[in-house]
Amino acid sequence: MLVVGARGHAIEVLECLRQSSDAQLFFFDDVTPDLEPQLFGRYPVLRSLDEVARLFAQDPAFVLGLGGGKLRKLLAQKMAGLGGVLTSVIAPTAQIGRYEVSLGPGLNVMHHALISNATQLGEGTLVNAGAAIHHNVTVGEYCEISPGARILGGCQLHDLVLVGANATVLPRVVVGEGARIGAGAVVIQDVPAGATVVGVPGRVVRRNAGTESL
Ligand SMILES: CC(C)(COP(=O)(O)OP(=O)(O)OC[C@H]1O[C@@H](n2cnc3c(N)ncnc32)[C@H](O)[C@@H]1OP(=O)(O)O)[C@@H](O)C(=O)NCCC(=O)NCCS
Repeated sequence: MLVVGARGHAIEVLECLRQSSDAQLFFFDDVTPDLEPQLFGRYPVLRSLDEVARLFAQDPAFVLGLGGGKLRKLLAQKMAGLGGVLTSVIAPTAQIGRYEVSLGPGLNVMHHALISNATQLGEGTLVNAGAAIHHNVTVGEYCEISPGARILGGCQLHDLVLVGANATVLPRVVVGEGARIGAGAVVIQDVPAGATVVGVPGRVVRRNAGTESL
C-alpha cells in the first residue's frame, strides 16, 4: 500500500496502519528535497510518478498522508489517474457509530476520533486525532477536522472546510464550502462559503480566503 506523503501527517498515518495491518508500506513525496530513501530506515520513499505507476501495477491501494483539503484532492486525482485506488485509514482506537453512518472513500480517521451515529463523511475527509463528529452531522468532501475539534449535533459542513484544532462548531450550524475555522474558535452561527472565522464567539475576519481555486 502507498501512503501519499512522507512527512508530518504521513508519520501519524503510518502508526494507524501499522496497528491494524501488516501490509507492505511505501511512501511518496516528489517535492521535499533531501529526504532519506527510507522512512525510519525501513519504509521506501518513492520519488517519482513512474515509480508509483509501477507499484500500482502490483498493489493499487493508496491512502492520503498529508493535510490540506485542496492538496489531498489534487493528489487523490493524480494517483487515481495512475491506476491507484483511494482507500481509507481508520485508526483502531477510533469510535465509529454503528447506525446510519455513511463513510466515503479515502478518509483518514485518526486515533481517538469519534464518529457518532447518523453521520455522513464525504470522500477524502480527514478527521484528526481526538476530534469528534457528533450525531446527525454531515461533512462534505476533502474537509479537514483538526485534532480535538468538535462538530456538534446536526451541523452541516460543505466540501473543503477546514476546522482548526480544538475549535467547536455549535449544534446545527452550517459551514459553507471552503470556509476556514480558526484553532480554538467557537462557531455560533452559520459561516458563508470561503469565509475565515476565528475567536470566541467566532467572528468572520476574511470573506473569500478559501474559495480562490475551488
Ligand atoms: C484561521 C486560520 C486558518 C487563518 O489563517 P490565515 O489566513 O493565515 O490568517 P492570519 O494568520 O493572517 O490571521 C488573520 C487574523 O486572524 C487572527 N487569527 C488567526 N488565527 C486565529 C485563531 N486561531 N484564533 C484567534 N485569532 C486568530 C490573526 O491574529 C489575525 O488577526 P489580525 O488581522 O487582527 O492581525 C489559521 O490561523 C488557523 O487557526 N488555522 C488552523 C490551524 C490548525 O489547527 N491546524 C491543525 C493542523 S493538524
